[in-house]
Amino acid sequence: MTSSADLQKRAAGEAAAQLVKPGMTVGLGTGSTAAWFVKALAARGLDIRGVSTSQATEDLALSLGIPMVSLNEAGTLDLTVDGADEIGPGLSLIKGGGAALLREKLVWEASRRCVVIADHAKVVPTLGAFSLPIEVVAFGHLTTARRIADALVDCDITAISHLRERDGKPVLTDGGNLIYDAPCGVIADPSALADALKSITGVVDHGLFLDLADEALVAGPDGVQRLTR
Ligand code: A5P
Repeated sequence: MTSSADLQKRAAGEAAAQLVKPGMTVGLGTGSTAAWFVKALAARGLDIRGVSTSQATEDLALSLGIPMVSLNEAGTLDLTVDGADEIGPGLSLIKGGGAALLREKLVWEASRRCVVIADHAKVVPTLGAFSLPIEVVAFGHLTTARRIADALVDCDITAISHLRERDGKPVLTDGGNLIYDAPCGVIADPSALADALKSITGVVDHGLFLDLADEALVAGPDGVQRLTR
């Protein structure tokens, strides 16, 4: 049975597909909402080029006949459309529930316009209820995790981050790194936390996407609403 959240994700994805124009180079996000966008985009049959944010999205897009180029080939993108785990004030985001945060951020930062798509349950008054994904290199990751714990304390966050595992094994990102998830609860100062995490050598990146989303298409029971910063 299709849930109302699934229907809303689909509505947001289909609305975003209407933003794409022929000739564009388009960043294709990762996750269940972004997959609806990719399907709706493919159905339009436009002459565009896609840039994927994960191997899973690359596989989906190619299976649907979307011509794909690498980020290196694309250079600057016209538009990127992607999902989020939380949408907070000023379109601050938590992303990375699907472990694709690094490639997502690389593609977002190369895009002239970034549109986040989601069902309305993702909109929150304060970021942090969703555990913050932090991508770390495997070498010395326990040491890095201790430094992450210190950074959280410095930001007045009481949380123990956990290595993400599936079937008893660490989840590996497309880049071969590990993910720690930090159940922050409330992130009062996302910028301070972002800076603190990025200053740790073993941290590759984190799921805080600040000042990156230009707009959001959020689907609820009454249709799709456009939010701006
Ligand atoms: C992937 O790493 C994430 O950033 C996703 O964009 C995010 O988890 C949203 O996924 P869903 O659309 O499946 O909720």
